[in-house]
Amino acid sequence: MLVSTIGDVVITNDGATIMKELDVQHPAAKMLVEVAKTQDNEVGDGTTTAVVLTGELLEKAEKLLDKDVHPTVVVEGYKKASDKAREILDSLGETIDTNDADTLRKIAVTAMGTKAVSGARDYMAKIAVDAALQVKEVRDGKTKVDIDLVKVLKKHGKSLQETELVKGIVIDKEIAHPQMTKRTTNAKIALLNAKLEIEKTEFDAKININNPDQMKLFLDEEERMLKEMVDQVSASGANFVFCEKSIDDIALHFLSKKGIAAVKNVSSGDMEKLAKATGGKIMASVKDLAASSLGEAKVVEETKIGDDKLVYVRDAKNPMAVTIVVRGGTEHVVDEAERSLHDALCVVRDAIEDAKIVAGGGAPEAETSKQLRDYAVKVGGREQLAIEAFAEALESVPLALAENAGLDPIDVMVDLRAKHEDPANKWYGVDVFSGKVKDTRNLDVLEPLRVKVQVVKSATEAASMILRIDDVVAAKGMKEGAGKPPGGPPGGGMPGGEEY
Ligand SMILES: Nc1ncnc2c1ncn2[C@@H]1O[C@H](COP(=O)(O)OP(=O)(O)OP(=O)(O)O)[C@@H](O)[C@H]1O
Ligand SMILES: [Mg+2]
Repeated sequence: MLVSTIGDVVITNDGATIMKELDVQHPAAKMLVEVAKTQDNEVGDGTTTAVVLTGELLEKAEKLLDKDVHPTVVVEGYKKASDKAREILDSLGETIDTNDADTLRKIAVTAMGTKAVSGARDYMAKIAVDAALQVKEVRDGKTKVDIDLVKVLKKHGKSLQETELVKGIVIDKEIAHPQMTKRTTNAKIALLNAKLEIEKTEFDAKININNPDQMKLFLDEEERMLKEMVDQVSASGANFVFCEKSIDDIALHFLSKKGIAAVKNVSSGDMEKLAKATGGKIMASVKDLAASSLGEAKVVEETKIGDDKLVYVRDAKNPMAVTIVVRGGTEHVVDEAERSLHDALCVVRDAIEDAKIVAGGGAPEAETSKQLRDYAVKVGGREQLAIEAFAEALESVPLALAENAGLDPIDVMVDLRAKHEDPANKWYGVDVFSGKVKDTRNLDVLEPLRVKVQVVKSATEAASMILRIDDVVAAKGMKEGAGKPPGGPPGGGMPGGEEY
């Protein structure tokens, strides 16, 4: 539970979120925050593992420095170890059939199982897999899953089990006028980035009115202009309008009389998603609306969820657009569910795009550690010490899992090392439920290979960077253009951090 100075509370198990929310002062610690951020951006999961491994690499390095091994030797050794570790991980990776929803579901379940919403993990995992498969496409012979196409909408109320995957887009807005139809079938959708209002002049103008007729004329003229705008919308053949700006009440009235429903003040992000989903074009002026710029969807309807109204655009022209409406008892539950869903969507994407997986529970780390030790002997010299330290640091992953599961870390490590002596036991890891060392591949604890490879990459890079620092020196205010201002957002970098 993270509590901010103004009392905001975030409850999470997500490494990336914890690191982002921490009030970090020390410049070197800020680099650890960066590790989590990179890991999250690149692969979406494994942020905690990456931070734990970076810390462990630094701790092991410190011991070597105490033994008078020069930092450059440690950095070189770590680099060699990291290259070799990735090679080993690649060789461990197993190819999967990316259409096999069952395997993908197991991967999503593993990612969600470590989160607070694990009670609903099977259900949520299924939703994540269905959503990812929906947006899967083959581009230039490569399978791509763009999870930005999956919109996640949070609505607290009901329970996690009521979370719904909608084929189409859901907008957190209501239909703008009570007389408009709440359900439009075979919708022809106009996407407008213009006000349906009379533009106010930029300077103050004054009109002198001497009699009531002139007043009426003035108002009639305004009404006529609005009617003309609505006629233009209607002439394009549209029967639904999504408008990024506001719509005048009189214009709404005319629209409803023409049988056109409308939603106003839609966010620009939603407008873009709508354009992608319905195949329509966002127009900057009502005049430019034409039949060719309209999007299409089978049904556009307003639905009530609790006290809120939402507009569902179902069966849009482009089937690749999907929305997950996340439900849950309280706001904190919904927030954490959204973060877990993000992890699940990311791991499913990673697995589909690479078609390579490993088992979890610390098994790949234990196996890589073992093979690295063999490699270290071949390298020899002082670098051997650094490679061995790297191998030992990798074992911190199964160790942490054992500790978190309330097991004796020493017993588990001894058992794990013994098992990994035999290459057939490469998937032996920590079974957190039974408290034994078991084949985690058989336990269906599966993870994408990409996550593990990225963990090694980001942790080694960050640890090497910190190891190269001789001293932390306070620098005077940085010149403009020389980088981010001091005290800026995390990741502003070390003052003089590039120094050798
Ligand atoms: N049922 C399980 N049994 C054993 N180990 C598991 C099980 N489920 C997950 N794990 C392991 O837990 C680790 C992941 O833990 P967790 O999800 O908390 O951290 P992370 O993925 O490193 O970071 P984050 O999810 O916060 O980005 C992986 O090593 C994974 O193999
Ligand atoms: Mg995870």
